[in-house]
Amino acid sequence: MSLDKKFESLFLNVSTRAALASYKFVGKKDKISADKAAVDAMRSELDNIDMIGKIVIGEGELDEAPMLYIGEQLGSMKGPSLDIAVDPLEGTNFAANNLPGALSVIAVSEKNNLFNAPETYMEKISTNINENGVVDLDYDIKKNIYNISEYKNKKPEDLTACILDRPRHKDIINELIKLKVNLKLITDGDVSGALLVTNEKYKVDIFLGIGGGPEGVLAASALDAFNCKFQGRFLFTTESDKIRAKEMGINDLNKKYELNEIVSGDTIFCATGITSGDLVKGIEIQEDKFFSETLITHKSTGLKKITKLIQNI
Ligand code: FBP
Repeated sequence: MSLDKKFESLFLNVSTRAALASYKFVGKKDKISADKAAVDAMRSELDNIDMIGKIVIGEGELDEAPMLYIGEQLGSMKGPSLDIAVDPLEGTNFAANNLPGALSVIAVSEKNNLFNAPETYMEKISTNINENGVVDLDYDIKKNIYNISEYKNKKPEDLTACILDRPRHKDIINELIKLKVNLKLITDGDVSGALLVTNEKYKVDIFLGIGGGPEGVLAASALDAFNCKFQGRFLFTTESDKIRAKEMGINDLNKKYELNEIVSGDTIFCATGITSGDLVKGIEIQEDKFFSETLITHKSTGLKKITKLIQNI
């Protein structure tokens, strides 16, 4: 079974409208309003689609989020049963401060094919080398870099690693510096960071480090369409995280997940730019029209492209 092609334009419209709504708050130093605008727009667009939709990754649990909460049912309740993962505003700091890289992101699969990720951190790795034994979350940095270097026939100093610039990554960053690997340090936005391995034009050979678990699942769904490699391991640090994980049916808290254990079957992924970044340009408004760019992938049809739209506001 695969997702009907008609859903490509329907979900493209969902992330585009959410990006436009959030754009109005770009540079207003107000993360909450920027996020709320994207959430509201995304929710109302999703509700217009003929589907039995269920949010599996969203704004949190019902008691923390009034909309797009995990388990929320959306759509006309006619049509296929779909699992939906959303990050209506990925990069709240970017939007609030008018910095590059804010996105509106959605990934959709048929029922039970998207991992129901807990709201915890995840250790992640992505690369465009989709072969076992070259890059692995269980290898140390040196082994991963030397393996990529050998596989790509490039010196470590000609490789680039993308990682969130966080104190928790000090040791990894120091090791990469020692190995003379070029760094691409990102201040936020690791959905985009993980996807920079999908095309040589971004000049990123490996993405690694700890970021949000939900963002890991979203990135994995696009990486699957690009036939890239992704591995993730959730990090359950607090007692309540551990209890929640057990409730969600996660028994092995240290499990390393392969991409196909996070995302399976057919998926559609859309990431629309709110502010211009590495992946896509942000929203531009001219009179009563707006321009948008969306990275859209659909695994079963092989669609992987940046779609530019000009629409009425
Ligand atoms: P928000 O859009 O929710 O602010 O998330 C931005 C982000 O940079 C994610 O891309 C990333 O996964 C996560 O935050 C990293 O978390 P932290 O800022 O705690 O290191």
